[in-house]
Amino acid sequence: MKSIVLDPDQRRVRQSFRRGLASYHDNAEAQASIAQELVSALETHITTPVKRAFEFGCGTGHLTAALRGRTAIDWMLANDLVPECGNAVRDTVDAFVAGPIETLSIPTELNLICSASTVQWIPDQTQLLQRLSDHLAPGGMLALSGFGTAQFHELQALGSSAAAPGYCNAEDWAAKVPASLDILHLVQEPIVMWFDGAFPLLKHLRKTGVNGQSREQWSRAKLTDFERRYAEQFGKDGKLPLTYDPVWMIARKG
Ligand SMILES: C[S@@+](CC[C@H](N)C(=O)[O-])C[C@H]1O[C@@H](n2cnc3c(N)ncnc32)[C@H](O)[C@@H]1O
Repeated sequence: MKSIVLDPDQRRVRQSFRRGLASYHDNAEAQASIAQELVSALETHITTPVKRAFEFGCGTGHLTAALRGRTAIDWMLANDLVPECGNAVRDTVDAFVAGPIETLSIPTELNLICSASTVQWIPDQTQLLQRLSDHLAPGGMLALSGFGTAQFHELQALGSSAAAPGYCNAEDWAAKVPASLDILHLVQEPIVMWFDGAFPLLKHLRKTGVNGQSREQWSRAKLTDFERRYAEQFGKDGKLPLTYDPVWMIARKG
């Protein structure tokens, strides 16, 4: 089998998602609802069956299942950085290929390229969007969700190193989208989750693997101090909030 070449950041992200894979699906409530929203937005713009679709960063298949359940797609290829994701989507797609989307060999003349909650891991989104556009057939659709700069803003304020490299607000997507694509839908709307303490909050991050860039080592004293500062700055009625800041975008190739 051909080995996949990854840079150190990609290796760390892959390790984090691989570690959280078994628990990801049931704990990624925010991502599940973001994927459903993406399909709802897309549905209003597709009127005929999609011939050839490609999804990158499919994970355990929240978007894959929603898409296949709600829209007519003749053939679908899925991808993820983590090879084991192929097992999760085996019954939902026609083919799966592992590797980083940045350098992956992808088919041309696609009628739909989609991805939920993954583009924030791609540092050069302008280059990615140009590449995706090049692989779309005329009239083909691009359906993406990523996260804006308020993603986990509580953690950012408390000095966490967990941020993904590509948080991008709705108003900044337009500058990254090549002229070959027309933006049809662009929405940003936060989702706030509430936790009983710092431990369950950090457990949630670990179980969903979304903390890929974090190199934090937690001692009991550090956790206690973190919880105190979190509660002081953001706590409400004994609970701690964690903000997801999703951005949804639908575009069409002219
Ligand atoms: C937050 S999960 C989202 C999974 C799924 N799309 C969902 O909506 O639940 C992000 C996924 O992107 C994958 N990923 C991260 N960087 C990637 C890259 N450069 N190329 C392909 N997949 C990547 C991770 O392995 C992970 O499965």
